[in-house]
Amino acid sequence: MSLTPPSLSISDLTKRFGRFVAVDSIALELRPGELVALLGPSGCGKTTTLRMVAGLERPSAGEIRFGDRVFVSIPRAIELPPEKRQIGMVFQSYALWPHMTVFENVAYPLQLRGIAKADIRGKVAAVLDLVNLGGAGDKQIPQLSGGQQQRVALARALVYEPALMLFDEPFSNLDTQLRGQMRMELKMLRRKVEMTGLFVTHDQVEALSMADRIAIMHAGRIEQIGSPSEVYRQPKTRFVRDFLGRVVNLRGTADAGGFRIAAGGERLAVAATHDVHPGATAELSIRPEFVAIVPAGAPDRPNSINATIEELLFTGDRFEARMRVGGDNVLFDLPSDRAWAEGESVRLHLPTDAVSIWSLEPDAK
Ligand SMILES: Nc1ncnc2c1ncn2[C@@H]1O[C@H](COP(=O)(O)OP(=O)(O)OP(=O)(O)O)[C@@H](O)[C@H]1O
Ligand SMILES: [Mg+2]
Repeated sequence: MSLTPPSLSISDLTKRFGRFVAVDSIALELRPGELVALLGPSGCGKTTTLRMVAGLERPSAGEIRFGDRVFVSIPRAIELPPEKRQIGMVFQSYALWPHMTVFENVAYPLQLRGIAKADIRGKVAAVLDLVNLGGAGDKQIPQLSGGQQQRVALARALVYEPALMLFDEPFSNLDTQLRGQMRMELKMLRRKVEMTGLFVTHDQVEALSMADRIAIMHAGRIEQIGSPSEVYRQPKTRFVRDFLGRVVNLRGTADAGGFRIAAGGERLAVAATHDVHPGATAELSIRPEFVAIVPAGAPDRPNSINATIEELLFTGDRFEARMRVGGDNVLFDLPSDRAWAEGESVRLHLPTDAVSIWSLEPDAK
Protein backbone atom coordinates (compact mmCIF):
# COMPACT_ATOMS: atom_id res chain seq x y z
CA MET A 1 0.00 0.00 0.00
CA SER A 2 1.24 3.43 -0.82
CA LEU A 3 1.04 6.14 1.82
CA THR A 4 1.14 9.10 -0.55
CA PRO A 5 -2.32 10.04 -1.80
CA PRO A 6 -2.83 9.48 -5.52
CA SER A 7 -1.96 12.20 -7.95
CA LEU A 8 -1.71 12.41 -11.69
CA SER A 9 1.68 12.14 -13.31
CA ILE A 10 2.18 12.64 -17.04
CA SER A 11 5.56 12.12 -18.64
CA ASP A 12 6.85 12.45 -22.19
CA LEU A 13 3.28 12.29 -23.49
CA THR A 14 3.02 12.55 -27.27
CA LYS A 15 0.19 12.12 -29.75
CA ARG A 16 0.67 12.07 -33.51
CA PHE A 17 -2.12 11.99 -36.06
CA GLY A 18 -0.28 10.76 -39.15
CA ARG A 19 2.72 13.08 -39.40
CA PHE A 20 1.05 15.86 -37.42
CA VAL A 21 2.18 16.15 -33.80
CA ALA A 22 -0.87 17.25 -31.77
CA VAL A 23 0.74 16.76 -28.34
CA ASP A 24 4.50 17.04 -28.19
CA SER A 25 6.23 15.31 -25.29
CA ILE A 26 4.51 17.04 -22.41
CA ALA A 27 5.16 16.46 -18.70
CA LEU A 28 2.84 17.43 -15.89
CA GLU A 29 2.45 16.47 -12.22
CA LEU A 30 -0.70 17.18 -10.25
CA ARG A 31 -0.62 17.33 -6.48
CA PRO A 32 -3.45 15.59 -4.64
CA GLY A 33 -6.49 17.87 -4.48
CA GLU A 34 -5.06 20.20 -7.07
CA LEU A 35 -6.99 21.65 -10.02
CA VAL A 36 -4.72 22.43 -12.96
CA ALA A 37 -5.94 24.32 -16.01
CA LEU A 38 -4.68 23.50 -19.48
CA LEU A 39 -4.93 26.83 -21.22
CA GLY A 40 -4.14 27.60 -24.82
CA PRO A 41 -5.50 28.64 -28.21
CA SER A 42 -7.69 26.47 -30.38
CA GLY A 43 -5.89 23.44 -31.75
CA CYS A 44 -2.96 23.47 -29.30
CA GLY A 45 -3.71 19.93 -28.05
CA LYS A 46 -5.77 20.44 -24.88
CA THR A 47 -8.64 18.06 -25.66
CA THR A 48 -6.26 15.45 -27.07
CA THR A 49 -4.29 15.52 -23.79
CA LEU A 50 -7.49 15.12 -21.76
CA ARG A 51 -8.69 12.26 -23.96
CA MET A 52 -5.43 10.41 -23.42
CA VAL A 53 -5.82 10.77 -19.64
CA ALA A 54 -9.39 9.49 -19.91
CA GLY A 55 -8.34 6.55 -22.06
CA LEU A 56 -10.33 7.67 -25.09
CA GLU A 57 -7.20 8.17 -27.17
CA ARG A 58 -4.05 6.04 -27.20
CA PRO A 59 -0.80 8.04 -26.87
CA SER A 60 1.92 7.65 -29.50
CA ALA A 61 4.52 7.78 -26.71
CA GLY A 62 4.81 8.40 -23.01
CA GLU A 63 3.17 7.43 -19.78
CA ILE A 64 0.27 8.50 -17.57
CA ARG A 65 0.13 7.32 -13.97
CA PHE A 66 -2.34 8.03 -11.21
CA GLY A 67 -0.91 7.28 -7.79
CA ASP A 68 0.61 3.83 -8.06
CA ARG A 69 -1.65 2.81 -10.93
CA VAL A 70 -0.45 3.01 -14.52
CA PHE A 71 -3.23 4.37 -16.74
CA VAL A 72 -1.16 3.93 -19.85
CA SER A 73 2.48 3.32 -20.65
CA ILE A 74 3.60 2.99 -24.23
CA PRO A 75 7.15 1.80 -23.39
CA ARG A 76 5.78 -0.83 -20.97
CA ALA A 77 2.80 -1.74 -23.23
CA ILE A 78 0.24 -1.14 -20.45
CA GLU A 79 -3.19 0.30 -21.11
CA LEU A 80 -6.03 0.50 -18.59
CA PRO A 81 -9.49 0.75 -20.18
CA PRO A 82 -11.42 4.00 -19.51
CA GLU A 83 -13.96 2.41 -17.13
CA LYS A 84 -11.18 1.16 -14.85
CA ARG A 85 -9.68 4.63 -14.39
CA GLN A 86 -12.34 6.03 -12.00
CA ILE A 87 -12.55 9.34 -13.81
CA GLY A 88 -15.42 11.84 -13.75
CA MET A 89 -15.79 13.89 -16.90
CA VAL A 90 -17.66 17.09 -17.73
CA PHE A 91 -17.75 18.32 -21.32
CA GLN A 92 -18.90 21.39 -23.19
CA SER A 93 -21.92 19.48 -24.46
CA TYR A 94 -23.66 18.17 -21.37
CA ALA A 95 -24.38 14.79 -22.96
CA LEU A 96 -27.41 14.22 -20.74
CA TRP A 97 -30.18 11.79 -21.66
CA PRO A 98 -33.10 14.04 -22.58
CA HIS A 99 -35.79 11.40 -22.03
CA MET A 100 -34.65 10.74 -18.45
CA THR A 101 -35.29 12.88 -15.38
CA VAL A 102 -32.54 14.68 -13.49
CA PHE A 103 -32.55 11.91 -10.89
CA GLU A 104 -32.27 9.15 -13.50
CA ASN A 105 -29.42 10.92 -15.27
CA VAL A 106 -27.40 11.28 -12.09
CA ALA A 107 -28.28 7.78 -10.84
CA TYR A 108 -27.17 6.12 -14.06
CA PRO A 109 -23.44 5.79 -13.29
CA LEU A 110 -24.33 4.20 -9.92
CA GLN A 111 -26.73 1.70 -11.52
CA LEU A 112 -23.97 0.76 -13.97
CA ARG A 113 -21.78 -0.05 -10.98
CA GLY A 114 -24.47 -2.21 -9.41
CA ILE A 115 -25.03 -0.03 -6.32
CA ALA A 116 -28.10 -0.93 -4.22
CA LYS A 117 -31.23 1.11 -4.93
CA ALA A 118 -31.52 2.53 -1.41
CA ASP A 119 -27.93 3.76 -1.49
CA ILE A 120 -28.49 5.32 -4.90
CA ARG A 121 -31.34 7.50 -3.56
CA GLY A 122 -29.18 8.95 -0.79
CA LYS A 123 -26.11 9.51 -2.95
CA VAL A 124 -28.05 11.22 -5.74
CA ALA A 125 -29.90 13.48 -3.29
CA ALA A 126 -26.61 14.46 -1.65
CA VAL A 127 -24.86 15.29 -4.88
CA LEU A 128 -27.87 17.26 -6.21
CA ASP A 129 -27.75 19.33 -3.01
CA LEU A 130 -24.07 19.90 -3.59
CA VAL A 131 -24.68 21.48 -7.01
CA ASN A 132 -27.73 23.45 -5.76
CA LEU A 133 -30.27 21.26 -7.53
CA GLY A 134 -31.80 19.75 -4.41
CA GLY A 135 -35.49 19.10 -5.10
CA ALA A 136 -35.06 19.17 -8.89
CA GLY A 137 -34.69 15.38 -9.22
CA ASP A 138 -38.06 14.86 -10.91
CA LYS A 139 -37.56 17.52 -13.57
CA GLN A 140 -37.13 16.58 -17.20
CA ILE A 141 -33.85 17.67 -18.82
CA PRO A 142 -35.48 19.88 -21.52
CA GLN A 143 -37.17 21.88 -18.73
CA LEU A 144 -33.80 23.04 -17.41
CA SER A 145 -31.73 26.07 -18.34
CA GLY A 146 -28.22 25.63 -19.79
CA GLY A 147 -26.62 26.35 -16.43
CA GLN A 148 -28.85 23.84 -14.67
CA GLN A 149 -28.11 21.19 -17.29
CA GLN A 150 -24.40 21.77 -16.81
CA ARG A 151 -24.89 21.31 -13.06
CA VAL A 152 -26.66 17.99 -13.70
CA ALA A 153 -23.68 16.93 -15.82
CA LEU A 154 -21.39 17.94 -12.96
CA ALA A 155 -23.50 16.00 -10.45
CA ARG A 156 -23.44 12.93 -12.68
CA ALA A 157 -19.64 13.12 -12.88
CA LEU A 158 -19.25 13.56 -9.12
CA VAL A 159 -21.82 11.02 -7.92
CA TYR A 160 -19.55 7.97 -7.86
CA GLU A 161 -16.77 9.92 -6.15
CA PRO A 162 -14.22 9.67 -8.93
CA ALA A 163 -10.57 9.87 -7.99
CA LEU A 164 -9.89 12.32 -10.78
CA MET A 165 -12.08 14.91 -12.54
CA LEU A 166 -11.61 16.05 -16.12
CA PHE A 167 -13.33 19.14 -17.48
CA ASP A 168 -13.25 20.10 -21.15
CA GLU A 169 -14.53 23.66 -21.67
CA PRO A 170 -17.45 22.88 -19.34
CA PHE A 171 -18.92 26.37 -19.35
CA SER A 172 -18.30 27.49 -22.92
CA ASN A 173 -21.93 26.86 -23.97
CA LEU A 174 -23.17 29.26 -21.31
CA ASP A 175 -23.56 33.01 -21.65
CA THR A 176 -21.06 35.33 -19.95
CA GLN A 177 -23.13 35.90 -16.83
CA LEU A 178 -23.90 32.23 -16.22
CA ARG A 179 -20.26 31.39 -16.85
CA GLY A 180 -19.22 33.73 -14.08
CA GLN A 181 -21.79 32.18 -11.78
CA MET A 182 -20.64 28.61 -12.57
CA ARG A 183 -17.03 29.64 -11.89
CA MET A 184 -18.08 30.76 -8.42
CA GLU A 185 -20.11 27.61 -7.82
CA LEU A 186 -17.34 25.27 -8.84
CA LYS A 187 -14.94 27.20 -6.65
CA MET A 188 -17.31 26.82 -3.68
CA LEU A 189 -17.89 23.16 -4.49
CA ARG A 190 -14.16 22.57 -4.20
CA ARG A 191 -14.30 23.66 -0.57
CA LYS A 192 -16.77 20.84 0.13
CA VAL A 193 -15.33 18.02 -2.01
CA GLU A 194 -11.67 17.32 -2.50
CA MET A 195 -11.15 17.24 -6.21
CA THR A 196 -7.99 16.48 -8.17
CA GLY A 197 -8.53 17.48 -11.73
CA LEU A 198 -7.56 18.86 -15.10
CA PHE A 199 -9.60 21.73 -16.45
CA VAL A 200 -9.32 22.54 -20.15
CA THR A 201 -10.16 26.03 -21.32
CA HIS A 202 -9.13 28.67 -23.81
CA ASP A 203 -10.65 31.35 -21.58
CA GLN A 204 -7.85 32.99 -19.61
CA VAL A 205 -10.17 34.48 -16.99
CA GLU A 206 -11.59 31.03 -16.31
CA ALA A 207 -8.10 29.59 -15.91
CA LEU A 208 -6.74 32.46 -13.81
CA SER A 209 -9.72 32.48 -11.46
CA MET A 210 -10.33 28.74 -10.98
CA ALA A 211 -7.07 26.87 -11.19
CA ASP A 212 -4.43 26.28 -8.54
CA ARG A 213 -1.88 26.17 -11.33
CA ILE A 214 -2.03 26.85 -15.05
CA ALA A 215 -0.21 25.00 -17.80
CA ILE A 216 -0.06 27.16 -20.89
CA MET A 217 -0.05 25.13 -24.08
CA HIS A 218 1.06 26.25 -27.48
CA ALA A 219 1.35 24.02 -30.55
CA GLY A 220 1.33 20.77 -28.59
CA ARG A 221 3.81 21.86 -25.94
CA ILE A 222 3.56 23.25 -22.44
CA GLU A 223 5.29 26.65 -22.47
CA GLN A 224 4.98 27.40 -18.77
CA ILE A 225 3.41 25.93 -15.64
CA GLY A 226 2.81 28.03 -12.56
CA SER A 227 0.33 29.64 -10.21
CA PRO A 228 -2.08 32.08 -11.87
CA SER A 229 -0.23 35.10 -10.52
CA GLU A 230 3.14 33.63 -11.52
CA VAL A 231 2.24 33.04 -15.15
CA TYR A 232 0.45 36.39 -15.34
CA ARG A 233 3.17 38.46 -13.67
CA GLN A 234 6.27 36.52 -14.70
CA PRO A 235 5.63 35.06 -18.15
CA LYS A 236 8.64 33.10 -19.38
CA THR A 237 7.94 33.43 -23.08
CA ARG A 238 6.45 36.06 -25.34
CA PHE A 239 3.63 33.69 -26.20
CA VAL A 240 2.62 33.37 -22.53
CA ARG A 241 2.97 37.12 -22.04
CA ASP A 242 0.70 37.95 -24.97
CA PHE A 243 -1.80 35.15 -24.42
CA LEU A 244 -2.59 36.08 -20.82
CA GLY A 245 -4.40 39.36 -20.46
CA ARG A 246 -3.54 42.67 -22.00
CA VAL A 247 -0.03 43.90 -22.45
CA VAL A 248 1.51 47.15 -23.64
CA ASN A 249 4.65 46.70 -25.74
CA LEU A 250 7.02 49.55 -26.59
CA ARG A 251 9.94 49.19 -28.95
CA GLY A 252 13.38 50.56 -28.21
CA THR A 253 16.91 49.60 -27.26
CA ALA A 254 18.14 47.78 -24.16
CA ASP A 255 21.15 48.90 -22.15
CA ALA A 256 22.54 47.69 -18.81
CA GLY A 257 19.66 47.94 -16.34
CA GLY A 258 17.63 50.15 -18.60
CA PHE A 259 15.73 50.70 -21.80
CA ARG A 260 15.51 53.63 -24.21
CA ILE A 261 12.17 54.13 -25.96
CA ALA A 262 12.46 54.34 -29.77
CA ALA A 263 12.12 57.60 -31.72
CA GLY A 264 14.11 59.75 -29.30
CA GLY A 265 12.16 58.66 -26.25
CA GLU A 266 13.24 58.70 -22.63
CA ARG A 267 15.22 56.09 -20.75
CA LEU A 268 13.62 53.89 -18.09
CA ALA A 269 15.16 51.76 -15.36
CA VAL A 270 13.95 48.14 -15.50
CA ALA A 271 14.01 45.07 -13.26
CA ALA A 272 13.47 41.96 -15.38
CA THR A 273 15.11 41.21 -18.68
CA HIS A 274 14.74 38.09 -20.79
CA ASP A 275 18.16 37.24 -22.24
CA VAL A 276 18.59 40.71 -23.67
CA HIS A 277 22.13 41.95 -24.27
CA PRO A 278 22.87 45.69 -23.99
CA GLY A 279 22.46 47.39 -27.35
CA ALA A 280 19.85 44.88 -28.58
CA THR A 281 16.67 45.96 -30.29
CA ALA A 282 14.07 45.12 -27.68
CA GLU A 283 10.56 45.53 -26.45
CA LEU A 284 9.47 46.86 -23.09
CA SER A 285 6.33 45.17 -21.74
CA ILE A 286 3.97 46.08 -18.95
CA ARG A 287 0.39 45.16 -18.04
CA PRO A 288 -1.64 48.34 -18.59
CA GLU A 289 -3.17 48.24 -15.09
CA PHE A 290 0.28 48.89 -13.57
CA VAL A 291 0.77 52.12 -15.51
CA ALA A 292 -0.22 55.34 -13.76
CA ILE A 293 -1.37 57.98 -16.23
CA VAL A 294 -1.18 61.59 -15.07
CA PRO A 295 -1.86 64.86 -16.89
CA ALA A 296 1.27 66.71 -18.07
CA GLY A 297 2.30 69.32 -15.52
CA ALA A 298 1.26 67.27 -12.47
CA PRO A 299 4.13 66.51 -10.04
CA ASP A 300 6.38 64.07 -11.89
CA ARG A 301 7.49 60.68 -10.62
CA PRO A 302 10.68 58.83 -11.52
CA ASN A 303 10.50 56.38 -14.42
CA SER A 304 7.89 58.35 -16.29
CA ILE A 305 7.64 58.96 -20.03
CA ASN A 306 5.72 61.22 -22.39
CA ALA A 307 2.66 60.13 -24.31
CA THR A 308 0.02 61.83 -26.43
CA ILE A 309 -3.65 60.88 -26.48
CA GLU A 310 -4.53 60.39 -30.13
CA GLU A 311 -8.02 59.00 -29.91
CA LEU A 312 -10.60 58.65 -27.15
CA LEU A 313 -13.60 56.35 -26.95
CA PHE A 314 -16.12 56.91 -24.17
CA THR A 315 -17.49 53.54 -22.98
CA GLY A 316 -19.54 54.62 -19.96
CA ASP A 317 -17.40 53.60 -17.01
CA ARG A 318 -14.14 54.68 -18.66
CA PHE A 319 -12.39 55.93 -21.77
CA GLU A 320 -10.45 53.73 -24.12
CA ALA A 321 -7.51 55.75 -25.34
CA ARG A 322 -5.14 55.17 -28.22
CA MET A 323 -1.87 56.83 -27.30
CA ARG A 324 1.35 57.59 -29.08
CA VAL A 325 4.44 56.61 -27.07
CA GLY A 326 7.83 56.89 -28.79
CA GLY A 327 7.30 55.15 -32.11
CA ASP A 328 4.34 53.05 -30.98
CA ASN A 329 0.57 53.26 -30.71
CA VAL A 330 -0.74 51.65 -27.56
CA LEU A 331 -4.13 51.24 -25.90
CA PHE A 332 -4.96 52.24 -22.35
CA ASP A 333 -8.08 52.67 -20.25
CA LEU A 334 -8.52 56.10 -18.67
CA PRO A 335 -10.83 56.80 -15.73
CA SER A 336 -13.96 58.71 -16.74
CA ASP A 337 -14.04 60.90 -13.62
CA ARG A 338 -11.94 63.48 -15.47
CA ALA A 339 -12.24 65.02 -18.92
CA TRP A 340 -9.42 63.95 -21.26
CA ALA A 341 -8.85 65.46 -24.66
CA GLU A 342 -7.58 64.16 -27.98
CA GLY A 343 -4.18 65.73 -28.58
CA GLU A 344 -3.50 66.05 -24.84
CA SER A 345 0.00 65.27 -23.54
CA VAL A 346 0.23 62.99 -20.51
CA ARG A 347 2.92 61.31 -18.46
CA LEU A 348 3.02 57.54 -18.02
CA HIS A 349 4.62 56.27 -14.84
CA LEU A 350 5.97 52.73 -15.25
CA PRO A 351 6.90 51.08 -11.91
CA THR A 352 10.33 49.48 -12.36
CA ASP A 353 9.29 46.09 -10.98
CA ALA A 354 6.28 45.79 -13.31
CA VAL A 355 8.36 46.22 -16.45
CA SER A 356 10.08 43.48 -18.41
CA ILE A 357 12.35 43.68 -21.43
CA TRP A 358 12.26 41.20 -24.31
CA SER A 359 14.75 40.90 -27.14
CA LEU A 360 13.47 41.59 -30.64
CA GLU A 361 16.62 40.13 -32.21
CA PRO A 362 15.87 37.38 -34.77
CA ASP A 363 16.71 34.37 -32.53
CA ALA A 364 14.62 35.57 -29.55
CA LYS A 365 11.82 33.41 -28.13
N1 LIG B 1 -8.68 12.37 -34.60
C1 LIG B 1 -7.89 13.32 -35.13
N2 LIG B 1 -7.31 13.17 -36.33
C2 LIG B 1 -6.49 14.10 -36.85
N3 LIG B 1 -6.17 15.25 -36.23
C3 LIG B 1 -6.69 15.47 -35.03
C4 LIG B 1 -7.59 14.53 -34.41
N4 LIG B 1 -7.96 15.03 -33.20
C5 LIG B 1 -7.33 16.23 -33.09
N5 LIG B 1 -6.58 16.49 -34.17
C6 LIG B 1 -5.75 17.68 -34.38
O1 LIG B 1 -4.90 17.86 -33.28
C7 LIG B 1 -4.77 19.21 -32.91
C8 LIG B 1 -5.15 19.39 -31.46
O2 LIG B 1 -6.54 19.16 -31.31
P1 LIG B 1 -7.30 19.36 -29.92
O3 LIG B 1 -8.70 18.96 -30.13
O4 LIG B 1 -6.53 18.66 -28.87
O5 LIG B 1 -7.18 20.93 -29.74
P2 LIG B 1 -7.74 21.85 -28.56
O6 LIG B 1 -6.56 22.50 -27.93
O7 LIG B 1 -8.66 21.07 -27.69
O8 LIG B 1 -8.54 22.97 -29.38
P3 LIG B 1 -9.97 23.69 -29.08
O9 LIG B 1 -9.67 24.81 -28.13
O10 LIG B 1 -10.38 24.20 -30.42
O11 LIG B 1 -10.91 22.66 -28.52
C9 LIG B 1 -5.64 19.98 -33.87
O12 LIG B 1 -4.85 20.53 -34.90
C10 LIG B 1 -6.60 18.95 -34.42
O13 LIG B 1 -7.00 19.27 -35.72
MG1 LIG C 1 -10.74 21.15 -27.33
